[in-house]
Amino acid sequence: MSDIKNSSEDIEEIKEIKSNSDLTPERLTLTFYDRKCETFGVSWYTAAYGSPEIRIMPMPDGVSDPDAVDASCARRIKCASSDGMEGVKNVGIIDKTSPERDYFYMVGDAEANVWSRRSLLRRRVPHDDSFTFLFFSDTQDGVLLGTMWKKAYGEALRDYPETAFTLHGGDIVDYGGYTELWEPMLRINAPYTMRIPMMQASGNHEYWPCYLRGNTNVDDKHYCQEYPPQDTTNGVYFAREFGNALFLVMNSGDVMSAGSYDMISASQLEWLERELSSTDKDWRIVMIHNPLYSPGKYGSAPDRNMAALNFRRQLNGLFWKYKVSLCLCGHDHVYFKTYPIDKNGKKCAEGEGTVHVMPGCGGIQNRSAIEGLSAEDASMFEEYYPMRHGHSAYMAFKVTPEHIDAFYYTVDCEDPSARSVLKSRFTLGRRK
Ligand SMILES: [Fe+2]
Ligand SMILES: [Fe+2]
Repeated sequence: MSDIKNSSEDIEEIKEIKSNSDLTPERLTLTFYDRKCETFGVSWYTAAYGSPEIRIMPMPDGVSDPDAVDASCARRIKCASSDGMEGVKNVGIIDKTSPERDYFYMVGDAEANVWSRRSLLRRRVPHDDSFTFLFFSDTQDGVLLGTMWKKAYGEALRDYPETAFTLHGGDIVDYGGYTELWEPMLRINAPYTMRIPMMQASGNHEYWPCYLRGNTNVDDKHYCQEYPPQDTTNGVYFAREFGNALFLVMNSGDVMSAGSYDMISASQLEWLERELSSTDKDWRIVMIHNPLYSPGKYGSAPDRNMAALNFRRQLNGLFWKYKVSLCLCGHDHVYFKTYPIDKNGKKCAEGEGTVHVMPGCGGIQNRSAIEGLSAEDASMFEEYYPMRHGHSAYMAFKVTPEHIDAFYYTVDCEDPSARSVLKSRFTLGRRK
């Protein structure tokens, strides 16, 4: 949030309202702003500087449709604006929400009276340290403009309406520097992305220059969230606590740093160890775009897996020492689950190592394990499945004090009547 200017000062200085359409909210994202997940960060784009505001109020008793609410009494949250990626980034923080209560909110421009759609919002909290989250990755879908993620997201929330938040493993769109892909992706998915806060890992389609049209800091410019001091040019890392779980969202974009040789930076490793060594949370869950293990090309192809091999050397020991239960990743567009892995990268007993998981592919770029996967590489995986063309995939995780139940689904996006299909499930016990 270092680039935020004060909106009230900006308004007089640089207000440039050419038409209402210049102030139409686009590219809206909802995150947990703070590490304890008590406030929401909202970010949205406009074509011009204006008077950005969030309006929010509790849903009146007996009313379930946000469009039926009289918004004249809604709380007004003044927001801030700054130069963003190909437009004006507006950000605001929604605080003071009562847990498990339904609100409606909208974002927009107070002076021009231009608003987003209205969305329900509920700050869910764990019950008996139990909660549910969804996990998508690689929703990039080229010319389909978000329709595959929409189908999968709708199916997931139909089955898991209690979802507290969503993890996204990165590569939300194919060309992260292209406004014309972000806008339809987030517009068509707004019924879900406005309602469910998301933690996103930076994907290479958000940090490889070939996808960016000269833009940088792509994730930083699309989310409103607290994170430790860091260079955000090639992605962002941050921590969130929910219930008895610590989520560490790492940034594999460190490999872009000059002279890194596909390694994670010392500063990110120091942050990771600081977080892991000081937490009192029993569940430690890491998310990182580039996998350490995968039967796909970035995990197992000898000419593509340099980062994976380096990450194993850098992270296996830390994951072992600090009892990381799960490492969630993306990038290879397949589903897999490893056996528990120890500090030396060897298979170990249930409950004694870190299990690595990839949730298939949320978008169109479906892949499978590489041809000629070596027996040694294959032996790390308890299961792995290729993705089918036209299918999207996701996972749901139900966290309890003693175990995590994980469910892997695919859905045929080419058949409008198709429902999601449970393809696999597993249960993890707490690390011993
Ligand atoms: Fe991807
Ligand atoms: Fe990727």
